[in-house]
Amino acid sequence: MSFATYCQLVEKITQWNYAYHVRDESLIEDAEYDAAFIQLQTIEMAHPEWVLPESPSQRVGAPASSSFQKITHEMKMLSLSNAFSLSDTWDFFVKAAKELECDVDTLPILSEPKLDGLAISLRYEKGILRYGATRGDGQIGEDVTHTIKTIASIPLKLFTQDPPEVFEVRGEVFMSKAVFEQINVLAQQENGRLFVNPRNAAAGTIRQLNPKIAAERALQFMPYGIGAYLGEKVFTAHSQILTYLNTLGFQINSNTRTFNATERAFDEDYQRMAALRESLPMEIDGIVYKIDYLALQQQLGFIARSPKWAVARKFPAQMVKTTLLDVIFQVGRTGVLTPVAKLKPVFVGGVTVSNATLHNMDEIERLGLCIGDEVEIHRAGDVIPKVVSVVAQSEHRQRIQMPARCPICQSEVNRIDNQAAYRCSGGLICGAQIAERIIYYASRDCMNIKQLGRVLIETLCEQGVLNSVAAIYRLTIADIARLDGQGEKNATKILAAIDASKKTTFSLFLTALGISEVGEEGAKNIARYFKNLTALRTADIETLLQVPDVGAVTAKNIHAFFSQQENNQLIDALLAAGVHWNEENFEPRYTPLSGQIWVLTGTLQLPRKVVKETLETLGAKVSGSVSAKTTCVLAGELAGSKLLQAQTLGVDIINETQFLALMHTFDINL
Ligand code: IVH
Repeated sequence: MSFATYCQLVEKITQWNYAYHVRDESLIEDAEYDAAFIQLQTIEMAHPEWVLPESPSQRVGAPASSSFQKITHEMKMLSLSNAFSLSDTWDFFVKAAKELECDVDTLPILSEPKLDGLAISLRYEKGILRYGATRGDGQIGEDVTHTIKTIASIPLKLFTQDPPEVFEVRGEVFMSKAVFEQINVLAQQENGRLFVNPRNAAAGTIRQLNPKIAAERALQFMPYGIGAYLGEKVFTAHSQILTYLNTLGFQINSNTRTFNATERAFDEDYQRMAALRESLPMEIDGIVYKIDYLALQQQLGFIARSPKWAVARKFPAQMVKTTLLDVIFQVGRTGVLTPVAKLKPVFVGGVTVSNATLHNMDEIERLGLCIGDEVEIHRAGDVIPKVVSVVAQSEHRQRIQMPARCPICQSEVNRIDNQAAYRCSGGLICGAQIAERIIYYASRDCMNIKQLGRVLIETLCEQGVLNSVAAIYRLTIADIARLDGQGEKNATKILAAIDASKKTTFSLFLTALGISEVGEEGAKNIARYFKNLTALRTADIETLLQVPDVGAVTAKNIHAFFSQQENNQLIDALLAAGVHWNEENFEPRYTPLSGQIWVLTGTLQLPRKVVKETLETLGAKVSGSVSAKTTCVLAGELAGSKLLQAQTLGVDIINETQFLALMHTFDINL
């Protein structure tokens, strides 16, 4: 075996991969491919000094460390301005033509699908992939080379004998609809944490520390432009760049079109793309129009963070029609019954939908909804599908009624005073409430028992092994190991995670108890005020009302919770099982900003979490939206609508440097 033969093998497998992942052609049988790959690995093991960076074996490397290196983009990564209608699109190019002093219908337009994934910049030096980075704030992104390399449609070495010195390829990493559905099925079986849409799943996968997991998720990449370029080739049009990228080994979107800018052509092209949307293997959320000639692009330049030669026309939220087959009632952690629509499965917004929330009985009334009706459902981005209206009433429509008894434990169902909600009166004898309480107790924002997810808890509850929160600490290896797909090794890991979670904080423990109206922030205030559990357990309503942000309803709920014998028994059992915390440092706090409401917007150099926590430590509240009540807006780079709103409302605005200076006056050096 010589080095030359090794290089041929690398080349051969690379070509097979390219044919399969980029051109959608299978050149050989799986067995032949596997044999060649094993041969490659064997040679590389014998001759580690030969290993080429572009070898297919180099796609799955070592896991990344817990934080990603920052990468400064040599050329900023821009974003796109949006158009929401044909007239917006038309106006955009009329304006561009005016600036270029030409007739709008002479503008050469190129359209591409707007892929719904995440923007990535790939830097090639002398044809070899050096790194892949996320967009970040446009200027500074994160090094995600370890997961980028797992993407089979990204060449590790450009297919050319004559590569440019530097070549940055910009494009979208995305997950196909099919892979998305598959990984969600698996996630459901494993730990119940589902991705909301393919974009989210792609973003999560790119930031995976372990490239092995990323490789299993089969991400894809399609380029839509270039960044820094140092080479001899001269480009005159965007379409020419796309063709060149194709010869270098990238997959180019076949739904790209060129035409001249007329209102009719824009409309036809948009309609064409909208009609294609459902049948495409990946999610698209609109269409991007670009002026094709680079000279014109250069003349126009960009404003803020968007080019003046390209615009995205987004699709409106997707609506589809289907039939309401049934309504079931789900019992939540606090016993509230929520009606859930069971729909005839329908593909919308990239996923198959067969359930939709109906919120409460008033909503059903408002919609005039009956079982059997044809309904319109709506799914936009991350939003849970929603029944929007009744399109046609069925002849055999059936009224939807709140059951008199809980579907799980048969206890009486009662309407909650003055609310649209109904609650099962079964309390902790209700299986659904027990499972939901355990799921909540173990969840990330509570006791954070990493390995104990929804599916496992539900199975253990069904089998009668788990019948209370405290029973978590009585689980044995055998209880878990005998379940399908678990085994002893997994069971041991799960028990270790349960054990590790016993060390917690007072406020997390309080959150985990699931007292109605007491969330993470509320629990922190309560823990800070009372400092220990005994004081809280014996507090009267008057005292509870002294806690910052605790109002009459919450005080009543807390008091009621600690007045119930079974809750106290549960707490004692948890403490006896070894749940403990160090007394947190709840010294009376210095809160010079108390009463203030802050809003953070734009890209900050400091981690947002740090800024938020610092402001909160100083007594301020941090809110997500600007209103007349806002005290101050901290605006980072590329701030958008919130900044505008603050300016309109005359709210104080400071930048990050001023913020640091302000913190300095409180002796806080960030
Ligand atoms: S061009 C200089 N073309 O949409 C302009 N972007 O909302 C850079 N996107 O950040 C972008 N498909 O992540 C362009 N065909 C396409 C696209 C596309 C998806 C994404 C991209 C960008 C975002 C802007």
